[in-house]
Amino acid sequence: MANVTVIGAQWGDEGKGKVIDWLANRADVVVRFQGGNNAGHTIVVGNSVYKFSLLPSGVVQGKLSIIGNGVVVDPWSLLDEIERVRAQGLNITPSGLVLADNACLVLPLHRDLDAAREAHAGANKIGTTGRGIGPAYEDKVGRRAIRFCDLSDEQALQGKIERLLAHHGPLRRGLGLKEVTAEDLLTLLHDIAPKVGPFVQPAWRVLDQAVKDGRRVLFEGAQAAMLDVDHGTYPFVTSSNTVAGQAGAGSGSGPGAGGYVLGIVKAYTTRVGEGPFPTELTDEIGERLGVRGAEFGTVTGRKRRCGWFDAALVRQSVVVSGIEGIVLTKLDVLDGFETLKICTGYRLGDRVLDYLPAGVRDQAALEPIYEEIDGWSESTKGARSWRDLPAAAVKYVRRIEELISAQAVVVSTSPDRDDIIMMRDPFQG
Ligand code: GDP
Ligand code: IMO
Ligand code: MG
Repeated sequence: MANVTVIGAQWGDEGKGKVIDWLANRADVVVRFQGGNNAGHTIVVGNSVYKFSLLPSGVVQGKLSIIGNGVVVDPWSLLDEIERVRAQGLNITPSGLVLADNACLVLPLHRDLDAAREAHAGANKIGTTGRGIGPAYEDKVGRRAIRFCDLSDEQALQGKIERLLAHHGPLRRGLGLKEVTAEDLLTLLHDIAPKVGPFVQPAWRVLDQAVKDGRRVLFEGAQAAMLDVDHGTYPFVTSSNTVAGQAGAGSGSGPGAGGYVLGIVKAYTTRVGEGPFPTELTDEIGERLGVRGAEFGTVTGRKRRCGWFDAALVRQSVVVSGIEGIVLTKLDVLDGFETLKICTGYRLGDRVLDYLPAGVRDQAALEPIYEEIDGWSESTKGARSWRDLPAAAVKYVRRIEELISAQAVVVSTSPDRDDIIMMRDPFQG
């Protein structure tokens, strides 16, 4: 039995939360390894709807949940989320939730900086979620971040705060932001420390012990390959590595620990925020996809941009993330379209490309090359067996598999946990 790493293969919001919740049933441990509360994962179980940003989606099934060192954690947001899901009846305790002692904090000053930069960027803005994620990762690689282990070491904390403010002071002044003093920050951190303290542990050791005990691990990716800071549509990306290769580094395990790499792929394409999107539809078809797919962001409520399926893009994600099989989600959203289009490559001036070039101007100038495929009029909503799908829907899935060079091992046909068609169990490798 393999471990499984779940990864988004487009620009996020592919339905990773639903898939992780469903898979968590057969896992023992669920680990987040990058991102922060920029993620928004919606899980529907009967009449209950859960929304997670920091908590691993395994908490619904009561599995040991680990927030790994690769995650940047806004502790106030985490505590709010814990309160919110406790009110929904989930039991979140320090024995079931582990927060890595070497994970870095997202502070209010990171949110300020995120917002101020976006406000000053004009047409160059990224369209971030405004959660301070980019600035927090900058401080992490700049070696001036505050980590959870620092909260219980008063002396270290004071030195850390000095170092941090030596950087942020001039920046804030330049952006016209109010000064933050060491006392302000210390007061905030003294208040939060005892509240998060019980969850803080050397997460890598907890994970290692679980693996040694033969427990099955599910690595939960947030965002997606095209938002990866190296492989995505830079600079319109998030500030972490989102590809499967990050699972080990972001949790403190080896490169092989992630096991089977399962890519989550939406049957069409969406994107929130700015940046190139070759197959975007700004017409009534795009509008129809958005309405049928309820494409509004979980975190910011922003309307998601919608477009046709881009096979060239997903083919690239399959390679850079080492995706071995996919879950094709939201197939039901395509019910009722007479014809569907799939992008197989791009035209760039007089060149034809079968991949997304790295340059920002090239990406913006791409013209998609489409092939058309028949749609279907029947409903696929809630289908749980391959036999329940109309022939044209099966053909659509098969064509996607061919174009992206990866097999659809699972198809998802509604938001509900159980509306799944499984061809192959990802845990069987
Ligand atoms: P994530 O960020 O990848 O976890 O995805 P989100 O939760 O942000 O967005 C996916 C949305 O689609 C959520 O509202 C899900 O409930 C919903 N969803 C997931 N799978 C399906 C599906 O197969 N069909 C439909 N119609 N909705 C789905
Ligand atoms: P899940 O896990 C979709 C996008 C933002 C913005 C860019 C940078 O739900 O799939 P950031 O706040 O990270 O600095 O914003 O990345 N973005 C997401 N888009 N789904 C997400 O997460 C996202 N997380 C960040 O919209 O374009
Ligand atoms: Mg989401």
